[in-house]
Amino acid sequence: MSPWLRLPPLLVLVALASACGSLSKVDFGRLVTSGRDGWQHPERVVEALALSPGDSVAEIGAGDGYWLPWLSEAVGAEGRVYAVEVEAEKVETLKERVSRESLDNVVVVHGRYEDPELPDGEIDLAMTCLTYHHIEEREAYFGRLLADLGPGGRVAHLDDRHDVRPPLRWFQGSGHWSDPAAIRSEMGAAGYRTVEEFDFLPLQSFQVFRPGVSGVAGARP
Ligand SMILES: C[S@@+](CC[C@H](N)C(=O)[O-])C[C@H]1O[C@@H](n2cnc3c(N)ncnc32)[C@H](O)[C@@H]1O
Repeated sequence: MSPWLRLPPLLVLVALASACGSLSKVDFGRLVTSGRDGWQHPERVVEALALSPGDSVAEIGAGDGYWLPWLSEAVGAEGRVYAVEVEAEKVETLKERVSRESLDNVVVVHGRYEDPELPDGEIDLAMTCLTYHHIEEREAYFGRLLADLGPGGRVAHLDDRHDVRPPLRWFQGSGHWSDPAAIRSEMGAAGYRTVEEFDFLPLQSFQVFRPGVSGVAGARP
């Protein structure tokens, strides 16, 4: 639906939200008029990920490459972004985008469904966005990913929440989502502990993990 067609219901929503206060933290104007950036807040996400110039970052399930310009800029010319995709057509689209936009520090990787095919021991941050729920055998997948992380390596998952209610649900296009508690539980089983949870995304959970076991002395930082 065109963003402008959503304006009349938006005005009703804003009035209702102000009246009951329950949605008062949601910037509906930005949700409606700014396309994906309006709800994805990529600049805030990248800031929260605290990447440093020179880092190696992997996006698993890069799709059309929405995150690549953001990640590429965050790690700089000395850094590297691995854009992992399993679908051959998307791999080609990603390569074209990387070339067209001169994202010189981005490497497109044709991964396998059960393995992202990343270099061992190199990744400072592996992230998924709207991809976690697509991955099967997640405990084994993220267990294997441990070998790809460098010292201090992290994994971040952003995924549409299972408990988002109308009217915010109108802004979710995928029809796929996950329960953030299930993500924490599955990542725990795969050998990770939760180190950060951000709640500024209206539609998605955003959690960061490190290798180790919650509450166990001596777990890797
Ligand atoms: C909904 S798209 C999200 C794309 C991108 N992350 C974004 O935020 O725009 C999910 C992507 O994950 C890919 N995918 C699904 N299973 C995967 C797997 N096991 N490993 C890597 N990518 C996978 C799909 O091909 C698809 O491109």
